[in-house]
Amino acid sequence: MIILGLESSCDDTGCGIIEDGVKVLASSVASQIEVHRPFGGVVPEVAARSHLTSIDSVVDDALEKAQLSIDDIDAVAVTQGPGLIGALLVAVSYARGLATSLNTPLIPVNHVHAHLHASLLGYTGDVDALFPGIGLVVSGGHTHLYYLAAADQFQLVAHSIDDACGECFDKVGKLLGFAYPGGPKIEKCAEQSHDKIEVTMPRMIAEKDRLVFSYSGLKTHMVNLLQKNGPAWLEQYKPEVCSAFQEEALGQVVRKLSTALEQYHDARSVIVSGGVAANKVFRAMLKEAVSCPVVLPDLKYCVDNGAMIASNAYFKSRNLDIDSMPKWSEPWDAYSRYPYGVS
Ligand code: KG4
Ligand code: ZN
Repeated sequence: MIILGLESSCDDTGCGIIEDGVKVLASSVASQIEVHRPFGGVVPEVAARSHLTSIDSVVDDALEKAQLSIDDIDAVAVTQGPGLIGALLVAVSYARGLATSLNTPLIPVNHVHAHLHASLLGYTGDVDALFPGIGLVVSGGHTHLYYLAAADQFQLVAHSIDDACGECFDKVGKLLGFAYPGGPKIEKCAEQSHDKIEVTMPRMIAEKDRLVFSYSGLKTHMVNLLQKNGPAWLEQYKPEVCSAFQEEALGQVVRKLSTALEQYHDARSVIVSGGVAANKVFRAMLKEAVSCPVVLPDLKYCVDNGAMIASNAYFKSRNLDIDSMPKWSEPWDAYSRYPYGVS
């Protein structure tokens, strides 16, 4: 089954074409990083307008890469939420028009769930043998931990009660003088650390068994640390500061993952995804802490893309008869970005 997936929930316009859930025939993404950089973060209205400008060309590009015509598509999938409302509306409207004109099913997808399917793209083993498993989405917008009974069954067991991990990297990156997005720059700067000084960080959420994430305390600690020591100190010890911050921001995720693995001991794998999963220190920490297989996405699928949307749609619908699938999605819920339990 060939599914065309569309993504426009935040600052990437994506179109992916996937065969049977894991085989990537094409993935085309137009990033808006340069558009938002002067503002230090994503501006929703600007994002929506940029999606509108790019969506046609990313679809054309994906079809060309896959060497397919639009009539070869069996179904269209689209990010329904969560995300920026104006931005979401672009791909949702485009997908509705496309599915209607092709007379194919239209499959609405939860963006956060789909991040986990990014890790399955190109997977050559038996996907179903990975489940039950633990899913960890560590992105700019979410720090979510799921118990996954199967490839299409998500039970949210932990989420951040304030900032997401990637969001904290971005905000602290801004404090440290890095351009948006801060995560990759903090990682790069930390590589230059020679442990010239010891920088201590507060350990978040001391109660080991509580499955919840929190980053506002770490962020406030960084504000206070920089105010107390001043810019000259920061210039001298920036790599050490980055390294200590990164260690704690990522350490919290790894500690909570270990707790989840103790509580859900039938988990056969850990599937990790989201932009922060690109961090090499994080990948090494996970390898060290987890004894079951850890499935990580290819670096190019860590950021938002349409391929993961198509993959999620496949696993949601693979047991359905294509002719019985709805041609028109359920009503689009414009508020789906608010609740944690969007399914
Ligand atoms: O998955 P993504 O595109 O975000 C959402 O869908 O929300 O990931 C972007 C996030 C940003 O917060 C960025 O700073 C972070 O991922 N990120 C990193 C790294 N690369 C991207 N964080 C830490 N280390 C990295 N190497
Ligand atoms: Zn995302």
